[in-house]
Amino acid sequence: MSAAAPAVVRPLHPQPLEEKPLQGLFLEHRLDRRAAGGAPFIYTNFLASLDGRIAVEGADTGRLGVPRAIANDDDWRLFQELAAQAEVVAVSGQFLRPGADKPLAERVPLDARHPDLAPWRQAAGLSPQPALLVVSGRLDLDFDAIAAFDRPLYIATGDAAAGPARARAEQAGAEVWTCGAGARVDGGQLRAALGRGGFGSVYVVAGPQVLHTLMVADALDRLYLTQAHCLLGGRNYQALVEGDGLPSGACFELAELYYQAPRGQGLGQQFAVFDRRRAA
Ligand SMILES: NC(=O)c1ccc[n+]([C@@H]2O[C@H](COP(=O)([O-])OP(=O)(O)OC[C@H]3O[C@@H](n4cnc5c(N)ncnc54)[C@H](OP(=O)(O)O)[C@@H]3O)[C@@H](O)[C@H]2O)c1
Repeated sequence: MSAAAPAVVRPLHPQPLEEKPLQGLFLEHRLDRRAAGGAPFIYTNFLASLDGRIAVEGADTGRLGVPRAIANDDDWRLFQELAAQAEVVAVSGQFLRPGADKPLAERVPLDARHPDLAPWRQAAGLSPQPALLVVSGRLDLDFDAIAAFDRPLYIATGDAAAGPARARAEQAGAEVWTCGAGARVDGGQLRAALGRGGFGSVYVVAGPQVLHTLMVADALDRLYLTQAHCLLGGRNYQALVEGDGLPSGACFELAELYYQAPRGQGLGQQFAVFDRRRAA
């Protein structure tokens, strides 16, 4: 297959089927319509290597980031499709530290490389771009970037968040929510605040600490996991979840699984959709 041919995937579960286009695969999920009983539908997405790395140290930067060896356009397309269905996208405080090389609006979805997604949102009755939610205890944030941002921006923090930083965030135009005692955000309180805010679909694009925060509170509904078919190794890396052991029963059920064969010089990968399995 030529690398320029439209990307296809082979559905493996729940039923093995013929190949189908990758584009549109996750738009079919209509995550914007899944909220129920005043609670938002909260979903997240990770790209991992076979040895479970979601972030490795960049040889040139020395900083942890998405492994370049596995980042690819097809996974990014699906990432954007998930963002297209979100009323709000959640990032971590780490994402909004001062010193980023690009304006905030260019660092969060939707990007301009997928022009079909803006009309899709419009037809779905969603705002042109999702709002942004920042989860941070320290509030060591880029307040200038917040002030320059052209969409609604919310910050979830604990009740011990430093007063001056909180005031600066509000002056920059953010709405600050207290969602926990001390420095940490509680996932249950965060979910409740999102519900009170009227958000129906929440796409979490933060990393292992925010996922732990959600899992401890049983506040995650769906996990999208792309697994690229390669090992990365390395000593300084991050995996999906970081924090104390999770209570037994933090389990998921495989809802869908797709296989993508290697394209051109690229890697093979699989796209899995896991729904949170809760006790009846
Ligand atoms: N491969 C992938 O799919 C994927 C996906 C996501 C991220 N990543 C990568 O993983 C690495 C880590 O990402 P990340 O730093 O965004 O992940 P993270 O571990 O979820 O976020 C860490 C930061 O989030 C805030 N935070 C998390 N839980 C909190 C809580 N309960 N209460 C208060 N604040 C909380 C803290 O911010 P403050 O310090 O401001 O308090 C903390 O420093 C990055 O290199 C990123 O690129 C990869």
